[in-house]
Amino acid sequence: MTKVLVATDKPFAKAAVDGIRNIVEGAGFELALLEKYTDVNDLYKAVADVDALIVRSDNVTKEVIDAAKNLKIVVRAGAGYDNLDLEACTARGIVAMNTPGQNSNAVAELAIGMMIYMARTCFTPATGSELIGKKLGIHAYGHVGRLVATKAKAMGMEVWAFDPFVPAEQMKADGITVASTIEELYSNCNYVSLHIPATEQTKKSINFDLLSKMPKGGCLINTARKEVIDEQGMVKLLTERTDLKYCTDIPASNQEELNQFAPRVFASPKKMGAQTAEANLNAGIAAANQIVSFIKDGVTKFKVNK
Ligand code: 3PG
Repeated sequence: MTKVLVATDKPFAKAAVDGIRNIVEGAGFELALLEKYTDVNDLYKAVADVDALIVRSDNVTKEVIDAAKNLKIVVRAGAGYDNLDLEACTARGIVAMNTPGQNSNAVAELAIGMMIYMARTCFTPATGSELIGKKLGIHAYGHVGRLVATKAKAMGMEVWAFDPFVPAEQMKADGITVASTIEELYSNCNYVSLHIPATEQTKKSINFDLLSKMPKGGCLINTARKEVIDEQGMVKLLTERTDLKYCTDIPASNQEELNQFAPRVFASPKKMGAQTAEANLNAGIAAANQIVSFIKDGVTKFKVNK
């Protein structure tokens, strides 16, 4: 019998697990669960006899792939798949997929919430500011970026975006001011919300030089990945520019060092942008359906490896 494992260090909501179970068992497959594991050896053991794997930010390394002798498909229930070793998957003929768009609204709502939190002085009685009339720069206009833009416009913000992979006409049609360079985005916007993936090209690309261009009182919101930030550059920046702010749900490797700048800096203790019941349900169910379609009919829509 086809066996599907859900391996999540940060578990899905119960409703999402129930939904996945219905789909998997409804297809005549078996479901196994490994949640909140603290030892990677538990993951190696759990994957030993599975045909399909659903994960979140869990690292699917070459070691995991090597331990999963029967694995045919791995689905990252979410958008970013930098946690999957795609080369190792391809080398074994394993299909790797993501579930784009399924958890985007949760992340977009958090980005808006973080802007309000920083604007309103971390919910203290100190005088804050309002978002209306402020310029927001969306760095990468994908599923999440587009949703942040819509919500920010509804609050009266002037929305800018930079994304060399999205036609300018498409962004303009959405009422967005298109920045033709990344520098133009950062130098014009009071807030910048990051929505770039972590790739070899983007890692550490949000650096001192770029962030220095932000206007007085500028605030960076990061619900994307910590790897895109040049963390030492961030420390230098916050030291030299006592007006700048940084808010993220992905604690940096040097978060303790960054915490000295609180309340201008805020990081939630653990990544939680997509941690809503709705996002869990949407992404989990999409992942389960994609597995069933692949195993039964060979459907490879949303495949991300070669
Ligand atoms: C994603 O890439 O989909 C988000 O970063 C959410 O990741 P998570 O499933 O680990 O919360």
